[in-house]
Amino acid sequence: MSNDVLAHLDVEKIRKQFPVLHQEVNGKPLIYFDNAATSQKPKVVIDALSNYYERINSNIHRGIHTLAERATSAFEDTRKKVSEFLNANEVAEIIFTKGTTESINLVASSFGRKFIEEGDEILISHMEHHSNIVPWQMLCEEKGAILKVIPINEKGEVIYDEYLALLSDKTKLVSIVYVSNTLGTINPVKEMAADAHKFGAKVLVDAAQAASHLNLDVQDLDCDLLAFSAHKAYGPTGTGVLYGKREILESMPPYQGGGEMIKDVSFSGTTYNEIPYKFEAGTPNIGEVVAFDSAIDFIQEIGKEKIAAHEDYLLEYANERLNKIEGFVPVGTAENKVSVISFNIEGVHPFDLGMMLDAKGIAVRTGHHCTQPLMDRFEIEGTARASFAVYNTTQEIDQFVEYLTSIAKTLRK
Ligand code: ALA
Repeated sequence: MSNDVLAHLDVEKIRKQFPVLHQEVNGKPLIYFDNAATSQKPKVVIDALSNYYERINSNIHRGIHTLAERATSAFEDTRKKVSEFLNANEVAEIIFTKGTTESINLVASSFGRKFIEEGDEILISHMEHHSNIVPWQMLCEEKGAILKVIPINEKGEVIYDEYLALLSDKTKLVSIVYVSNTLGTINPVKEMAADAHKFGAKVLVDAAQAASHLNLDVQDLDCDLLAFSAHKAYGPTGTGVLYGKREILESMPPYQGGGEMIKDVSFSGTTYNEIPYKFEAGTPNIGEVVAFDSAIDFIQEIGKEKIAAHEDYLLEYANERLNKIEGFVPVGTAENKVSVISFNIEGVHPFDLGMMLDAKGIAVRTGHHCTQPLMDRFEIEGTARASFAVYNTTQEIDQFVEYLTSIAKTLRK
């Protein structure tokens, strides 16, 4: 990364836009390193949310009064912005959901119900989040289909030859995480999609952790479906996206029945709305979707390239120092990864690490990170995980390393 790029990123100015960062926790200035769980929200997003409830609040696609039209147009503006953010071919390919988990469940229920049959195979990797495991287990159980797992190596990377060996004419879907929430590994999803397509399989990308770090270009990736959540990309909670190629979305049956997803309802039969509305039954999370627009603006005003350069720098800076701590064991050392560091300190339980860091105002996540099969793969119970965002600094990392060093000295058995 060039110094030039860093020189152009004014982290202090960025930090000022995040009110939550400016407080003490347990008597110490907050150091927020739990960004893979959820990122903090800039003032523009908080203001957009209150502005929505103070000035716009109304239901969408239903009323003809002025507020209803304002709310509808603000909601649809976000859809357009998301379609540009993903470089989708058209706005109708963007469906709003509650989050990544609901997006994946939508595909499992709808695509799965129609296209998966007994003996069909679905491929996932060993590093998937439970959200990209359990829906497929449920579907396979119902349909008599087979869930196959792509193995990973000691560094936490997909073993590509084994992936190729698992692909066959029986493979109907490859559902793969772009960036591992636990390891930070960036998977070669573009290459994986190209190889899956040779067998006619569809590809779903879980981009929950990728959205804030990597450029997402669905046409370049040539994935068939892609899911992510607003809240990990500086947006509000309860709002997610499912992107799908038009022809696939059109071929899929509705996920939930209710208002908005219909064209005509009668007791003799019901017809369904066009995409994306066919998949948006019920009143959505309107205010949060509207505020997500400001989160995308926030990301784009800084620029994904600069955000990634800053986070890569923090990753390198932290790794260099953490690896010098006696007993420090990194979990996930892929060549290609984002700013997520999972680790253990020999002889110290990750929960104890988390509690002791919290006592110093440092927020990290501890446990299995909703990736229990991955923990089994590494034969560990859990890890502590520090994950960095655009507003984190090297000074915060220095403080973290200092506390961790003293914890390791005191607690190591
Ligand atoms: N999936 C989120 C995490 O990794 C909640 O922490």
